[in-house]
Amino acid sequence: MAREFTSVGVVGLGTMGAGIVEVFARNGIDVVAVEISAAAVERGRATLTGSTDRAVAKGKLAEADRDALLARVDWQVGLDALHSVDLVIEAVPEHLDLKQRIFAELDRVCKPEAILATNTSSLSVTEISVATTRPNQVIGIHFFNPAPVMKLVEVVRTVVTSADVVADVEALCERLGKVDVTISDRAGFIANALLFGYLNHAVSMFESRYATREDIDAAMKLGCGLPMGPLALMDLIGLDTAYEILDTMYRRGGRDRRHAPVPLIKQMVTAGLLGRKSGRGFYTYERPGSPVVVPDEHTPVTTGAALADGARAIAKVGIVGSGTMATGIIEVFAKAGYEVISVTRGAEKSAKVCEAVKTSLNKGVVRGKLSEEDRDAALGRVTWSATLDHLADVDLVVEAVVEELSVKKALFASLDEICKPGVVLATTTSSLPVIDVAMATQRPADVIGLHFFNPAPIMPLVEIVQTIRTSPETSATARAVCAALGKTGVVCGDRSGFIVNALLFPYLNDAVKMLEASYSTADDIDYAMKLGCGYPMGPFELLDVVGLDVSLAIQRELYLELREPGFAPAPLLEHLVTAGYLGRKSGRGFRDHTKR
Ligand SMILES: NC(=O)c1ccc[n+]([C@@H]2O[C@H](COP(=O)([O-])OP(=O)(O)OC[C@H]3O[C@@H](n4cnc5c(N)ncnc54)[C@H](O)[C@@H]3O)[C@@H](O)[C@H]2O)c1
Repeated sequence: MAREFTSVGVVGLGTMGAGIVEVFARNGIDVVAVEISAAAVERGRATLTGSTDRAVAKGKLAEADRDALLARVDWQVGLDALHSVDLVIEAVPEHLDLKQRIFAELDRVCKPEAILATNTSSLSVTEISVATTRPNQVIGIHFFNPAPVMKLVEVVRTVVTSADVVADVEALCERLGKVDVTISDRAGFIANALLFGYLNHAVSMFESRYATREDIDAAMKLGCGLPMGPLALMDLIGLDTAYEILDTMYRRGGRDRRHAPVPLIKQMVTAGLLGRKSGRGFYTYERPGSPVVVPDEHTPVTTGAALADGARAIAKVGIVGSGTMATGIIEVFAKAGYEVISVTRGAEKSAKVCEAVKTSLNKGVVRGKLSEEDRDAALGRVTWSATLDHLADVDLVVEAVVEELSVKKALFASLDEICKPGVVLATTTSSLPVIDVAMATQRPADVIGLHFFNPAPIMPLVEIVQTIRTSPETSATARAVCAALGKTGVVCGDRSGFIVNALLFPYLNDAVKMLEASYSTADDIDYAMKLGCGYPMGPFELLDVVGLDVSLAIQRELYLELREPGFAPAPLLEHLVTAGYLGRKSGRGFRDHTKR
């Protein structure tokens, strides 16, 4: 029989604590909510009232249930109020000495059988536990932000946590409607160990002005389907908390430079820019604690007129290539009203591409997303050719041929001879340096990267890659074209992986390393990222879809260009590729797809 928890204590009612109080009270459990001062108690109470009022307004909670929920919470200053609770969850700031002091005090105050839990994200639960006389009753219960919404709980057992305590806490998580993964005491557990290197990397992109905050966030939301971008997430977590987590992970997790907090984070914390909770972090919020972003001096002007500033007029577009990307891009331009010339290496290939475009447009008609007239008009705008010479009078060329530098360079050299002056020449490369392609022409100022995502007709993102030679007019033209296509264009520099792949693949590689170290299973790691961070797919699901060979190639490129030791491809990834386990396409990757 699992232990009955009728009353629990929550210590610290900040970003996490207030949410944890709500989780328990919603599930019929009495809560003693403790803070350091009356003012802090009031802040915690206001957070809970705000959250439950919003739930009532949205029709997700009945008024009577809200009142019953609020009546279950006993607000108190000081730990003495916790003498008779069955379980305490501590959610004070991420400092070991503070947590140890609180646990020593809890050990004195709480009844002997009470379980003492910490919500720490990165500190050692073991080190916290030894501040008490009952380390076997100390455990990590790591909720995710916002606690009432995120389904995951990481249950962290130390080498001394008793098996009964683990089982009781697992049963409690189930009662709370949460999914738990039980793991051992390692810096960052599963989710944060995979998340924080990525967040820190995103901040360093912003700090080095590689891309704007809006573009970094839009890239990860639209390119990977994440619920929020990394900088918005930093603001939600709180920059002070994020700093402490990174700092601890750096010290505890083998001094991986990727966890050394980017200097900007410390500066922002010192300046009081803590994120949502202080009303300003990477973004500015309506007021402290509000999720509503308001414009500030860094907000870009995105009106049509500003976008078109300096842009060249584009009416006729040449698209070179006959693969998946070229096919999708032809459809995108034709549907947006551009006159398109598709150039392939032969009539047979042109016929195939034409057929593929037709099939895709027809699907749109069947699904009711496109009228028959619009389909016919789109097809009517495309000319099919097997000769580059037909690109003599286009305004823009988009190249989507095989990902080989020599092939692309030769093509751009030919385009340079054929195309009229002033044409924008774009490459869709996802891994080659755009500058290499640009320098194959006599007009590098007109060359830019337009990195579409697959499938191009569906994915809303395009990375606009500027080289050090790209002119402002070329860049403005690319931005205006993306807007006219109905895509979000994000501007970045010419570095390996651009924004999305540079942030995504090291995270996937880290997940493989975690599996390789037997810290957790592929299923639990996938759960942790989906249920703890709201990712649409777990890392192993995504790796199997993308292809392990493709992922390995991208990771190798990143490692070779940036020489970051933490980017070295995981040996397990190399072995699986060598063994021919490439993911869905070969029937087996991290999972066996032949049986599903
Ligand atoms: N922010 C997140 O996204 C997140 C997610 C999961 C876990 N965590 C972890 O949760 C813990 C709390 O983080 P947070 O972001 O909620 O911090 P926070 O700064 O928002 O809140 C901490 C609260 O603790 C209170 N406090 C400080 N000393 C206290 C004491 N002696 N007694 C009672 N209350 C005290 C503070 O007044 C403050 O309200 C940390 O261990 C953090 O790593 C945070």
